[in-house]
Amino acid sequence: MVNEKYVKRHTKGFVYLHWINAICFFMLFLTALPLYADTFGFLYQIFGAKTLQYGHRFFAVLFVLNPIIGLITAREGIWRMFSEIFKFNGKDITFLIKFPLELIGKHPDMPKQGFYNGGERMNIAFQLAAWAVLVVSGALLWFGDGFIDNSIRAWMIPVHSLCAAISFAGAIGHIYLAVVVNPDSVHGMQDGTVKMDYASAHHGEWIEELEREEEHRDTQEGKEALEF
Ligand code: HEM
Repeated sequence: MVNEKYVKRHTKGFVYLHWINAICFFMLFLTALPLYADTFGFLYQIFGAKTLQYGHRFFAVLFVLNPIIGLITAREGIWRMFSEIFKFNGKDITFLIKFPLELIGKHPDMPKQGFYNGGERMNIAFQLAAWAVLVVSGALLWFGDGFIDNSIRAWMIPVHSLCAAISFAGAIGHIYLAVVVNPDSVHGMQDGTVKMDYASAHHGEWIEELEREEEHRDTQEGKEALEF
């Protein structure tokens, strides 16, 4: 309902998909850290190298299965993410140009945003691409021995590592924007609803869309009642 205090934004299935993905992402990062820097060698001492290796593989399988299961349990949210990437337009560019001003506490006149804003659309496109690169390069490292040329397989190490590092930086930026800049958005990743005033201020076009749908439904119901 559009004029209630909270408005439904994400389904429970999508919320679970998001958190399982976030946990897998950080566990994959943590279990691989000692491979890159001796500073994290203490993880080997605490857990043992084998446990970290098996842990990395366990979370890798979950990282792959999660969105596949999500195609059934969170298809609405997944479909919305895919369709939103292709809606990137001039308004999103204006939003992104003015966004740094918001970060330093100013209130620039922003164009109304849809379900996702320009930054979120970029994050979605980036995370989806990073997921695919991590999964393909990881699978070739795990299973590629004997299937593909070793010189190609050797390239998968820097590709996998670089992609993990860039995704990690992206995830930190994403968390900062959610928790520090827009803490009201986090409610949407708890029970799926966000405050109405937050939604109107940050996703005005989406709220207008919901209002139009509601009006249309009311008119239809009115017509049906009259015909009856
Ligand atoms: C403590 C960690 C995290 C917090 C607090 C958090 C918070 C959020 C919130 C509040 C949203 C909903 C935004 C909206 O409704 O407009 C969201 C969406 C999303 N999150 Fe996270 N997230 C976290 C970790 C991650 C990680 C690790 C990834 C990926 C590796 C990720 C990927 C996404 C994507 C792709 C979306 C959908 C679009 C977007 O808002 O950018 N999140 N997250």
